[in-house]
Amino acid sequence: MKIVRIGIIGMGNIGKHHAGYLLDGKVDRCQLTAVCSTSPDKLADYAAKGVTVFRDAKELLSSKKVEAVIIATPHYQHTTLGIAAFDAGLHLMVEKPISAHKADAEKLIKAHKKNTKLVFGGMFQLRVEPRYEKIRALIRGGDLGEIVRVNWVNTDWFRSEAYYVSSAWRATWKGEGGGVLINQCLHNLDVLQWLLGMPVSVRGYCQLGRFHQIEVEDNVTAYLEWSNGATGVFVSSTGEAPGANRFEIVGTRGTLVLENGKLMFTRNAVDMVEFSRTAKIGFSKPEAKTEEVSFANAAAPHAALTQNFVNAILDGELLIAPGHDGIHSVELANAMVFSSLEKKSVELPMSGVAWEKKLNQLITESKLEKKVMFVEASDFASSFRK
Ligand SMILES: NC(=O)c1ccc[n+]([C@@H]2O[C@H](COP(=O)([O-])OP(=O)(O)OC[C@H]3O[C@@H](n4cnc5c(N)ncnc54)[C@H](O)[C@@H]3O)[C@@H](O)[C@H]2O)c1
Repeated sequence: MKIVRIGIIGMGNIGKHHAGYLLDGKVDRCQLTAVCSTSPDKLADYAAKGVTVFRDAKELLSSKKVEAVIIATPHYQHTTLGIAAFDAGLHLMVEKPISAHKADAEKLIKAHKKNTKLVFGGMFQLRVEPRYEKIRALIRGGDLGEIVRVNWVNTDWFRSEAYYVSSAWRATWKGEGGGVLINQCLHNLDVLQWLLGMPVSVRGYCQLGRFHQIEVEDNVTAYLEWSNGATGVFVSSTGEAPGANRFEIVGTRGTLVLENGKLMFTRNAVDMVEFSRTAKIGFSKPEAKTEEVSFANAAAPHAALTQNFVNAILDGELLIAPGHDGIHSVELANAMVFSSLEKKSVELPMSGVAWEKKLNQLITESKLEKKVMFVEASDFASSFRK
């Protein structure tokens, strides 16, 4: 049987998680053969398990020990290491965000275009969660009619100061390229565009370091417009406790509400537009019936996406989250911050170069003196299901 030998670059919180399920045999037809981290203390355990360890990513990439790599480093290295992986002829699964900003994402996608035989996946594991799969099927099946409004209050991403001091790169323009948008709720931005497509205009209102000693955004409200006239509001924060997660999608034929682990679908007996045109009474509205759409949570979403990546390499299975799709969530995150700083709407597709220039200015002008302390990350997995 053919197998894919996989290496992981970056053995922090999520790199360790990927290694855990791979070593436990949760992904068929693949073997973890190499890991790499610039933090030597993260490597000893793996050497003891027969995995080859590297301190330098370039050595892993040229080692001939792997056919594929998962890149799980801080954001800026996703582009440089991703391009190096393609140059070394390796399949790539890159952690989210695919790059720290849109111009870098374009570079990574361009590098992949030179060798499209290599599989390029992005770790957007919410795409295998049945609740979002069901919402997508309802939208695509026409059950909601034409989408008119979307509201996602997505503020259950609370983080304490301890989180921000746990790594030097976190919540800095230089190390991360942004805050809650490019990091925590990037998964939700990916889901938003996966379900509804990209908006054509974004107006963001971002508060920088409102609740934490950080320089990037930790509290956001954004207004979105789609080409069909649909409107949306996306709200996120790492400074709200307990926080909320309410996702409403309204169409002419019905309304979906996902909240508190329940998905409710209210179906209009008649499309609202048709009803409005034909009704003879001014204050009536379409009859509607609400039902619960049941779903189970994915048991191991990261492993499921890695399985799909392995199947894509060995059998040509279609990717659930192609790497190049990752540019959209990066663009949404960038556009919300850029719009806020410029105090005006940003039309999409936005200029990646213009945001990169602004980001470089923020990096140059940064006065932040970052404190770093050791922080126990044992509760890390609690952040997965949003
Ligand atoms: N998909 C998810 O559910 C999920 C969850 C958490 C984090 N992430 C993403 O994973 C990435 C890493 O996040 P984290 O929380 O694990 O960070 P972390 O700080 O805990 O770990 C990053 C690790 O990368 C190592 N590293 C840095 N540069 C390197 C290099 N050039 N070569 C090799 N190793 C290098 C560091 O030593 C560190 O151990 C980020 O992009 C983050 O957004 C994804």
